[in-house]
Order: sequence, then C-alpha cells, then structure tokens
Amino acid sequence: MSSSESVQYHGLLLPPVAHTLESLEYAQHFSVEDTDVFGVTYPKSGTVWMQEILPLVLNGGDLTPIQTIPNWDRVPWLEETRLAKVVDRLKSPRALVSHFPYYLMPQSLHTSKAKVIYIMRNPKDVMVSSYYFHRMAGFLEDPGTFDEFMEKFLEGKVLFGKWTDHVKGWRLAKLGDRILYITYEEMVKDLPEALRHISDFLGRNLSEETIQKIAEHCSFKSMKANQMSNFSLVPKKYMDSEKSNFFRKGVVGDWKNHFNTEQLARFTSVIRKELEGESFSLPWSLD
Ligand code: A3P
Repeated sequence: MSSSESVQYHGLLLPPVAHTLESLEYAQHFSVEDTDVFGVTYPKSGTVWMQEILPLVLNGGDLTPIQTIPNWDRVPWLEETRLAKVVDRLKSPRALVSHFPYYLMPQSLHTSKAKVIYIMRNPKDVMVSSYYFHRMAGFLEDPGTFDEFMEKFLEGKVLFGKWTDHVKGWRLAKLGDRILYITYEEMVKDLPEALRHISDFLGRNLSEETIQKIAEHCSFKSMKANQMSNFSLVPKKYMDSEKSNFFRKGVVGDWKNHFNTEQLARFTSVIRKELEGESFSLPWSLD
C-alpha cells in the first residue's frame, strides 16, 4: 500500500476505506468489558474464520448471527470505522477482532477480565494469502511481482506492518491466562479439537454434538458458501472475486507452490534474524 493513499498511524499504513484517525483513536480508548473476547491476528491468519467461530462458541451453536449478520457487523474490527456504528447493537458477551499490535490495544483491556485469542499462521502462507488479497482488494495497491511483494512484506510496508513485530508483541503480551495462542495450522488439522480448546478457554461447556455442528458451519466450504461471510455483499470495486476469491484455498503449505529456492532462503533469513534471541519459539519450522 502506498503511503500517499493510506492512513498513517504509529508507523502503520492502513486503508482509508475502513480506517480513519478517529476510528483508530476510538479503538485505543474503547471501553472493554470483562466479558469481551478479542480474536487477534496479523492479517491473513484466520480473522474471518474467528468471526464465524466466536459467536457460535459464545452462543452455544446458535446459527442466527452467522446466517443473518455480515461478518464485519457481527464481530467487528476494533480499529475500523464500522465499530462505532454497530457497537450498541452488539450483544454481551461481545466478540471483536483486531489486527492491532499489542501496544495499541485499549488501555481498558489491561484492567479488564476480557480474553484474547491470538491466531498465528506460518508467515510464508500469510504472505501468499496477502499477495492474492492485494490483487483482489481494490482498496489496496497492486502487489506487483511476487518478488516485489516479498520485499514489501519483509519491510513491513503492508497492512499492519511487519509480521515479526506483530508476533513478538503478542507473544510477549502480559495477559496471563487471559490469552490463548492458537495456530491456523492447528485449526486446519483438527477443527473440532481447536474448537474444544477455544470453548474451554471461554468457559463454555459445549457438548460434542455442538462442537461438531460448529465445526461443520465453520468449514472452509460452508463459509465460502455463506453470503454473510464470503464478502459477496461487498461491491466488486472493493473486492473482486473474479481476480481472486477471499476464500481462496484455505490450506497449509501453499507457499511451496510460490517460493523458489532463493526467495525461501531470503525470507527465512530475514524472519530468523528478526526473531533472534526472543524467548519464544515458533510453532513451525521456517525452512
Ligand atoms: P488463503 O488465502 O490461504 O486461502 P483473514 O481472514 O485473516 O484475512 O485470512 C484469510 C485466509 O484464511 C484465507 O487464506 C482464507 O481462505 C482462510 N480461511 C478463512 N476461513 C477459513 C476456513 N474456514 N478454513 C480454512 N481457511 C480459512
């Protein structure tokens, strides 16, 4: 995204279609409630998936929200302009998503009992997903070649800055047992198991039948067909599914179809260097 077209906030470049300085300030001063749940991601790591999962887990599998409310109103982005418009309609317990780095989260998060689920995805697959997203999203700059996009991604000149900064901030978050770390890969491998973790973390005692029902409605296939979640309600000039579908592949390891040997070596060495000496380890190998 070019800096001339974007909203700049604490060094982050954000698309003005959904972000204004006002919405970003509103987010930072948002009054978090004890029962709130945040699904936090670096973009392209499973955000929209959480917008489907959270209401179902919180409401014991009631399908009404996912069948009647578009994802951006159902589980709004903390930092987007839409939140202020729908906040009064959100039912408790509220679910929100956010791409904010940890340090920009509202102060009231720290004094509340609200919970956070941080979803991480292998950065190589994040980059591939983001590359196609930049092609289809009319509000983002064309990604250029894969090589060009990789440089932008590694420099953090993309939505919400560097992947490594996002992950570092959130992995070191001081939220004690109020944060659950989960990976996109775990969710793809065994969604019912991931749902059991999420449900336990949120203090929901869901029956196995409900878990299976939620898993079915949160599968890639079901979500791709759900008009309230597949962005088909968004005008083509903003999201053009003929260029690339938002629900593109939904798999682990698509990077293998995109990175050549040199790109992989460069990508891995930059990410490794930036995470050198950190006290946490990554759940997957970067090679
Ligand atoms: P791909 O482009 O690799 O297919 P976000 O919501 O953070 O923007 O992430 C989008 C990515 O999550 C896309 O990845 C999308 O296909 C994937 N995704 C969304 N829902 C999914 C689901 N139910 N199962 C698997 N992947 C899903």
